[in-house]
Amino acid sequence: MLLKKVASILTGFAVPCPFLNFGNCTLKTGSPADVAWGRSAISLNWQTAVSLVSSLFSLLLSSLFSPWLVVMVMACLVLLARRRIAPDSPHHQGAMPCLPHLPLLGSLPWLSPHLPPHLLFTQLSHRYGPLYSLYMGPHYTVVINDQHHAREVLLKRGREFAGRPYMVTTDLLTRGGKDIAFSDFSPLWKSHRRLVHSSFTLFGEGTHKLQDIDSLCEELQASGGGPVDPGPAVSRAVTNVVCTLVFSSTYRRDDPELAQVMEYNDGIVETITRGGLVDIYPCLKVFPSEALSKLKECISVRDQLLTRKLEEHKASMREGDTRDLLDALIQAQAPRGQRSAQQEGAGLTDDHILMTAAETFGAGVETTSTTLLWILAYLIHHPQVQERVQKELDEVVGRGRGVCLSDRAHLPYLDSVINEGLRIRPVSPVLIPHTALCDSSIGGHSISCGTRVLINMWAIHHDPQHWDQPDLFKPERFLDDQGRRVTPPCFLPFGAGPRVCVGESLARMELILFLSSLLQRMSFQLPEGAPPPDLQGRVGVVLQPLPYKVLVIPREMCQT
Ligand code: HEM
Repeated sequence: MLLKKVASILTGFAVPCPFLNFGNCTLKTGSPADVAWGRSAISLNWQTAVSLVSSLFSLLLSSLFSPWLVVMVMACLVLLARRRIAPDSPHHQGAMPCLPHLPLLGSLPWLSPHLPPHLLFTQLSHRYGPLYSLYMGPHYTVVINDQHHAREVLLKRGREFAGRPYMVTTDLLTRGGKDIAFSDFSPLWKSHRRLVHSSFTLFGEGTHKLQDIDSLCEELQASGGGPVDPGPAVSRAVTNVVCTLVFSSTYRRDDPELAQVMEYNDGIVETITRGGLVDIYPCLKVFPSEALSKLKECISVRDQLLTRKLEEHKASMREGDTRDLLDALIQAQAPRGQRSAQQEGAGLTDDHILMTAAETFGAGVETTSTTLLWILAYLIHHPQVQERVQKELDEVVGRGRGVCLSDRAHLPYLDSVINEGLRIRPVSPVLIPHTALCDSSIGGHSISCGTRVLINMWAIHHDPQHWDQPDLFKPERFLDDQGRRVTPPCFLPFGAGPRVCVGESLARMELILFLSSLLQRMSFQLPEGAPPPDLQGRVGVVLQPLPYKVLVIPREMCQT
């Protein structure tokens, strides 16, 4: 009871980390209030601090002087005093600037709960510079807001910063790191990652695997000219692609198993964003939590379904026939005594296979469908961009056949629209936290082993030093004056280095094929009298647009 009370006090504080989120936060980027925010974000919120200390005192009294609370209150007082002695000068003595911090609470009292992490970190960078540190509760954490230091961590010292921190929620989600994204760096992780990466090439040019494009187009066109929210249809189509890739199932729109997959996936996404505090203070996991219970429930439904698929695959597998990711991973499993410890797949257990399959949904559905929805939202705002993509498609592909991947080379404008969507609304605005695997350095500052590093991709993608009018949707910035593709060095939507997104090529293929097929067959317009799609979005596990409606106008196709 007492600790529940403490937890409820602590939950009043911001938990700025991509997977340890503020909860669902609707953004108000670029508003004057945000600019003012830069200042309020960095000063101690005295009201909050006073309320924290007084709440702690009342708890202290009601708990008959629990030693835990005595320590907390003492810590607050000592550190408030310490702050006077060691002010948080952002530029002192050549050390990395650090936000003020209290023991246990770290810098949390100085971080406002009203801004999502990427905007908060960006605001803080205006005062502390692009590279600074803070304490996420007890964890010393470096925050990077510029491409120079991001490249140093991801590429130049990629190996040294390829670790992942322990988190309660992701540990539950992945059976203790049997996946790729949240597993710490190890030789097994490396070979597991390589295996999955090469399995994704199974998809290749085999566009039959993306047959869901047709159902998506049909579903959208079935709106009969009335306003329709494209979200559910897009999300179903992308989920279906992943189902095909992972276990060769392609579902009809109303299939209950597809509904089940989407339901547990949504449940995981929703609850993992609410599990923040326990990831900062893992000891809180012993207390009842609605979010953790719901997460466990969804994980259990997910695991039952995937275990059934795994068993069916094992029973029906034929040598030399790799139908999907499950087959590829089962085949790579080392039969006892037949493989050396160095061989690819050696050490891969059934848990690894299940967690990889689960992660392909977790990492592959929300990211790709959200990117598509952002791009559609921007096309509604910029009908001239939509027309230019359609003109390019008409010239290169025509309307007599479907688009295939080899057309991509001749569709630079389409590519630039996708890149601009990935830049202006990166679905992962702060990358998954990295940790230092050994003592190292960033920007000449010493970094000790175990330090957490957050890379704020939002700040990098909106850095006015590198992007002209970064808040405007301008696909041409990815083309030179000859109309050829250019990729600026500060464009890193999939990360880089040893931890670069393992699904990048699959995601790009889906984005190109889905978007081109949609725009070849239909146009999207704003329904009369409807407000244009909101472009601020909300932060869950990914940065996603709020639901919006469009009119779908079919374009005439020539039959061949
Ligand atoms: C538009 C779509 C996508 C975007 C923008 C995206 C972006 C990212 C980013 C930024 C990271 C983190 C890199 C880091 O921590 O440094 C990441 C990691 C990852 N992504 Fe994606 N992703 C997308 C689609 C996919 C798909 C389709 C899959 C799989 C089917 C996938 C699987 C993964 C995995 C497994 C990781 C963890 C890699 C590691 O830790 O080694 N992603 N992605």
